[in-house]
Amino acid sequence: MTLQNLDYEQSCYVASTEAKRVVEQTQLDASKNAAERNRLGQFSTPNALAIEILNYSKTLLPPHEKIRFLDPAIGTGSFYSALLQSFPIEQIESAVGYEIDQDFAETALKLWVNTPLQLNIADFTESIAPKNKQVRANLLICNPPYVRHHHLSIGKKTSLKKLGIEATGTQLSGLAGLYCYFVLAAHGWMSQDGLACWLIPSEFMDVNYGGKVKEYLLNQVTLLRVHRFSPNDLQFANVLVSTSVIWIRNTQPVCDYSVEFTCEGSISKPSFSHTVSRKTLQKSSKWNRGFILGTQETSIKSEIKLSDLFQIKRGVATGANNFFILTPKQICQLDIPNELLTPILPSPRYLVNAEIFADKQGNPDFQRKLFLLTCKQQSEELRINYPSVWNYLQQGIDAGISERYLCKHRSLWYLQEARDPTRFLCTYMGRHQSKDGKPFRFILNHSKAIAPNVYLMMYPKEHLASLLTAHPELLQSVWKALNLIPIQSLINEGRVYGDGLYKLEPRELANAPADSLLEVLENSSDQHT
Ligand SMILES: C[S@@+](CC[C@H](N)C(=O)[O-])C[C@H]1O[C@@H](n2cnc3c(N)ncnc32)[C@H](O)[C@@H]1O
Repeated sequence: MTLQNLDYEQSCYVASTEAKRVVEQTQLDASKNAAERNRLGQFSTPNALAIEILNYSKTLLPPHEKIRFLDPAIGTGSFYSALLQSFPIEQIESAVGYEIDQDFAETALKLWVNTPLQLNIADFTESIAPKNKQVRANLLICNPPYVRHHHLSIGKKTSLKKLGIEATGTQLSGLAGLYCYFVLAAHGWMSQDGLACWLIPSEFMDVNYGGKVKEYLLNQVTLLRVHRFSPNDLQFANVLVSTSVIWIRNTQPVCDYSVEFTCEGSISKPSFSHTVSRKTLQKSSKWNRGFILGTQETSIKSEIKLSDLFQIKRGVATGANNFFILTPKQICQLDIPNELLTPILPSPRYLVNAEIFADKQGNPDFQRKLFLLTCKQQSEELRINYPSVWNYLQQGIDAGISERYLCKHRSLWYLQEARDPTRFLCTYMGRHQSKDGKPFRFILNHSKAIAPNVYLMMYPKEHLASLLTAHPELLQSVWKALNLIPIQSLINEGRVYGDGLYKLEPRELANAPADSLLEVLENSSDQHT
């Protein structure tokens, strides 16, 4: 336990009282059964975490400011203990706690008897905020009871709803848990520019009933930081939900500013950290999107890029399209066997439709069928097993094809890059003056055709791939969503040439925002869960 800069006497007193508190807390927890503890959301905060929270909160307060502390669900006082371990007693102007449970409250009263704590044994949601703004809390820290809505009686829900409206003008959905009402109810207890820190379940960031809580956080106060712990974090061993800590300041928000989003690790050393603008959060219906994708770094909508969903590769650079890409007529004349051919798309300018259907063989179902000569065999093997192909390759050598740059630098001059077919493609270059005014088009490919390098091939990554396998009907929605990506954001990522030709390299397409796709994924996960 670190008790830096504190008076020695205070340090000794808090250390020994904290040790007693842990013992009492353990005994109290053991004396109550799970149903009782669930009913009142009684899960105490590990003191090490409480200290981390207090230490970080301290950095958000003006130094030396007198502290008016409030914990609306104080339990035996883990946060209060951390307060006394973080601030010298002279800096604490007042410290108020609320606790509904007689046993917890009496234990806390006994433990903290010689300290400034004013503990009220009462239901916080039925208590009246101080009228005098000067005495309102400037440091509110709370781990509110996590009581699910179905444990709240109808009468209680009605009065809580009324309270939410009175405190903030916010009407919460009937599905909101008690912790949401605590956040709203506490608004009137905060001083102007005061700080509040809430340790609450992460689910409010994703579920519908959390929408109003998020509106409050974005519109009535200034949201400073959200830290999400890993659901596997051992300090929450007895809590089955993922936990987040949020910091807010009771200051009207400016139009746009950055909110810090961190996750995993600890508060002082999170594993991932990035900032998200208030405007982005306002547009985002789910703040935990990274968990849909399985990547926590990208938990916020606008931070999602196509690279989070697709691996993007340039189509095949054959080295000599006229030689390696063959029409059915040429194939017939040259007698090239099927097993050495792969269907390949023609240049986008020959695609009448952006959706490519397949014929019975899986080849593109249109007139202009093309095939790529794909042989991996050594020349000698070809000569013995596929003499017609060997003869054709000899013509290539005679015509100087094997000496062309790409061909010359391959292990076998005729060996093509390996590419699997994919459902999604994007054209690699185009002009604004194209038919639909868009320089880039997304193609939905139902055939087995691969693509030449005038396309970018988009391979769905694991999560998206398994979703599409389980729900093939989503192919259309994903394709439509790709076409909703604002053309300007594709242009911004790519490059323009003097003559109005726009190009997108694989890495540039990968950088494009994927918000429109996330709508589809979210809706599908809502429907399929
Ligand atoms: C999650 S625990 C947190 C306790 C303590 N602050 C800590 O962090 O260890 C929530 C506490 O709120 C209390 N509580 C539940 N409903 C309450 C209410 N309506 N008003 C005040 N306290 C309440 C519970 O008895 C429990 O002690």
